[in-house]
Amino acid sequence: MANKSLAKVPESTCVLVTGGAGFIGSHTCVELLNKGYRVVVVDDLSNSSKVALDRVRQITGLSADDARLAFYECNILDREALTRVFQENEIDAIIHFAGFKAVGESVQKPLEYYWNNVAGTLVLCSVAREFDVKNIVFSSSATVYGEPDFIPITESCPKHEATNPYGETKSMLERVLTDLYKGDNEWNVVLLRYFNPIGAHESGLIGEDPKGIPNNLLPYVAQVAVGKLACVGVFGDDYPTPDGTGVRDYIHVVDLARGHVAALEWMGGKVGTGEAIGIGSIKGTPAEDGTRRGVGIFNLGTGKGSSVLDVIHAFERACGHELAYEIKPRRAGDVAENYAACDKARDELGWVAEYDLDRMCADSWRWQSTNPNGYAAS
Ligand code: UD1
Repeated sequence: MANKSLAKVPESTCVLVTGGAGFIGSHTCVELLNKGYRVVVVDDLSNSSKVALDRVRQITGLSADDARLAFYECNILDREALTRVFQENEIDAIIHFAGFKAVGESVQKPLEYYWNNVAGTLVLCSVAREFDVKNIVFSSSATVYGEPDFIPITESCPKHEATNPYGETKSMLERVLTDLYKGDNEWNVVLLRYFNPIGAHESGLIGEDPKGIPNNLLPYVAQVAVGKLACVGVFGDDYPTPDGTGVRDYIHVVDLARGHVAALEWMGGKVGTGEAIGIGSIKGTPAEDGTRRGVGIFNLGTGKGSSVLDVIHAFERACGHELAYEIKPRRAGDVAENYAACDKARDELGWVAEYDLDRMCADSWRWQSTNPNGYAAS
């Protein structure tokens, strides 16, 4: 049994980014490349575009044939294709984003969600293990807290049963990855629980490009701002919050992406004390080279809650005109309020979110107004 060492410089570290052409994945590729890491993207383009990777090259100044960024169009359920990826690249660590993510759709298509997200991750981990790659950062979600027991939410806040299959896949995969470590102490696992990622790269070249009518607030507001949709529906104004609308912890996607780079450094033993606090975190004994072992769990948020109306008004400032909105009934499954305690990520990963809501909306607007049809028109 062995695991690849992360106790080396980024220039000689190769990171497999599954779902690397997607919204969070593409921004993470930029931050990894900026730090000098080599990146291999695996993406089946089912909910993303190859153009995003061309833009990643443009932002980071890489030519089309620069080997620091490689791309394989394949699904993580395809064991043979994944095996080729590991054969052709000296992969050291995985950042695993690939997965379906629409809450409503997951209720209609539970089989597809469990198959793609859960079985796909099992295939990925099993191929990775064959190549002694046991360093993995997993894209989890604050959804695992369900209706939170307390706010701000720390990593010690108990998990609650998910209200939909999408959330359940996140929760299940946290468990699967934790059990991998329990069965084989060579594994080095980080579970990152994202709050609400929004915004876009400041260049306006990459951003969120949802298919069809957006389910999430920010892309919906952005499409109203650009004139593609008529009016934002505000789902409930009778919550026990300051203005009655739902409160969330919105985080700039670039801050979030940097959190992944910080997690890699932590796994390599370059930052932090290794103290694992919080339910489910397991503090393992570091390897001889100082590389960590165990399961680290971190919230990635800003620690600040904003209401739906706060978001609409921040976006109005960004785009320079008023946005039509209308109060609608509550959406099933929504909680009144959720925001993160981010002390653990600050203390251990040395990471804090830098950008505020106005900056998130300004960057989102730059992306939306210069790419009104996302990557499609390119
Ligand atoms: C949702 C998912 C969460 C997932 C995350 C991914 C649910 C219940 N939760 O989080 O599991 O990890 O997306 O990004 O779907 N809102 C409106 N009008 C809209 C859309 C949203 O008022 O058109 C409100 C919602 O009621 C909520 C807030 O805006 O108060 C944020 O909603 P959304 O962007 O969908 O994110 P979450 O529901 O927090």
